[in-house]
Amino acid sequence: MSNFADFQNEIYLGGLGGVLPELPMTAAGLEARAERELERSAFAYVSGSASAERTASANRAAFDRYRIVPRMLRGTTGPGARDLSVEVLGTRLAAPVLTAPVGVLELMHEGGEVITAEVTGELGIGTVLSTAASTPMEEVGAVAGAWWYQLYWPSDDDLARSFVERAERAGASAIVVTVDTPTLGWRPRDLEVAHLPFLHGKGIANYLSDPVFLDRLAAPPHESQEAMQAAVLTWIGLFGNHTLRPADLAHLREWTDLPIAVKGILHPDDARQLVDAGADAVIVSNHGGRQVDGSIAAIDALPAVVATIGDRADVLFDSGVRTGSDMLIALALGAKAVLYGRPWVYGLGLAGRAGVRHALRLLLADFDSALGLSGCATPGDLNRSLIVTSR
Ligand code: FNR
Repeated sequence: MSNFADFQNEIYLGGLGGVLPELPMTAAGLEARAERELERSAFAYVSGSASAERTASANRAAFDRYRIVPRMLRGTTGPGARDLSVEVLGTRLAAPVLTAPVGVLELMHEGGEVITAEVTGELGIGTVLSTAASTPMEEVGAVAGAWWYQLYWPSDDDLARSFVERAERAGASAIVVTVDTPTLGWRPRDLEVAHLPFLHGKGIANYLSDPVFLDRLAAPPHESQEAMQAAVLTWIGLFGNHTLRPADLAHLREWTDLPIAVKGILHPDDARQLVDAGADAVIVSNHGGRQVDGSIAAIDALPAVVATIGDRADVLFDSGVRTGSDMLIALALGAKAVLYGRPWVYGLGLAGRAGVRHALRLLLADFDSALGLSGCATPGDLNRSLIVTSR
């Protein structure tokens, strides 16, 4: 049974006359406050998208064209009436949400990945840990509840294999291969402040703690500044894999027994090829508009992918989710779960642990409320019949 929607009672009924929340109560409010309070280059890195940022805007605008047609008198609104839990890729979640993999969380808060893993564990949802994390995966795995490992497949298969085997040993329960970022998109906000965190040795903790990566270096990176610079140069050479093809999933399948999800898919033919090549799931995502500006809004790409492979593999979704209704729409269109991106990252930057918790509880409460008020008791009750498009 879920009681995420009780968050509002805490606020209205807390104390005698209600408790004013310390943080904004919307994702948009968190972003606005983050823009005011966070360091410029850190905010630029998180908020920035590719080029004119049309796809980032389209991700939001497209949601607005899908409308929910709620059902009434179904007994789904009372105490204990709903159960939000789901099982996705063999992972049990208290609600169909995982935090999206977001690299370089140290820009927001030291120990950001550990905090996020602990908070998601407390809430019973999942977290996807980025290859570009600021904390080695073993430290995160030691405190996390349900977590998946996101692989940026480097141009060195020994290193890729090492990452995957480390993740499995550290307790990850699925591997998410992100395929839309063999190289970074054109990101004016970062360019304007000439800031790429990796070149400052940030977001490469999983590399610096990897025996295969260390083996590629002439000297241990922490020995001197020159050695660290050499490590960063090695990282530049290894980060992207431009030769990766769907058939390479067969290697991943040899390296691990964990379920494999491929993230960054928009075209149904890509989804089909990847499922043919052995993917257990695809994640429809345009990386929050950070890669190809002008590309299709992620929610507009979801229905065709579900129609093409939904009977053979799970489809998950991210890019532009900001409210419970966004989540509801994505699930009603066939996603099994959503990955939640920027809003909790702003929460982390604004208020550390309390901020991540606040941002995630906003989404969960909003979704719980929207689900019940739409006449659904579980995420499994959601389907296309609850959605119309308004052009
Ligand atoms: C990301 N994203 C991302 N994805 C991934 O697979 N590995 C990564 O390391 C990162 N890093 C990252 C950093 C930052 C600052 C952002 C904003 C995003 C993409 C992320 O997982 C997700 O696809 C998007 O955040 C979804 O878009 P919205 O909903 O956050 O706008």
